[in-house]
Amino acid sequence: MNNSQIVFLIGFMGCGKTTLGRKLASRLGYPFFDLDHLLEEQAGMSVTEYFSSFGETAFRLAEAEILKQTAYGETAVVSTGGGLPCHFDNMDWMNAHGKTIYIQLSPKTLASRLEHGKEHRPLLRDKHGDELVTFIAEKLAERESFYQLAQIIADGISLTAERVEEILKG
Ligand code: S3P
Repeated sequence: MNNSQIVFLIGFMGCGKTTLGRKLASRLGYPFFDLDHLLEEQAGMSVTEYFSSFGETAFRLAEAEILKQTAYGETAVVSTGGGLPCHFDNMDWMNAHGKTIYIQLSPKTLASRLEHGKEHRPLLRDKHGDELVTFIAEKLAERESFYQLAQIIADGISLTAERVEEILKG
């Protein structure tokens, strides 16, 4: 029997990948990896600083490299940056190496969650109110077809780690 299981949590900024991922990892007894944090550790700077020093193109290359070079071991829960599934062959790579779960939420719900966490997010930090909702709706529309390639699509409203664990068990 093959006991390896790498779970990749994907979805837009603010959908809860990191919080849920950490809880899920502790329920399953798996190590937890947050790819943005790994990038920050390796680069010695925040994602915001990375964007302003090197630009988005360099960031996309760096996050893809971290996705593919990290030694996850046999079991892991991995939280990915919101744009990662939409670049290069990252989505195919995750589907080939583990189980992908898309945490789906509407632009309105995401905007209300992001109004507070947006300072750390270079793509959002200068947007407010309706402008923030419109930006999220447009970006999400561009990204949705990539997210839809996930093996599991979960409604992010009131989603708990316990529920994700049940879904994984089938
Ligand atoms: C990004 C999402 C962020 C981070 C970067 C770019 C995006 O991760 O990777 O700011 O393009 O959606 P979170 O989804 O964890 O906020």
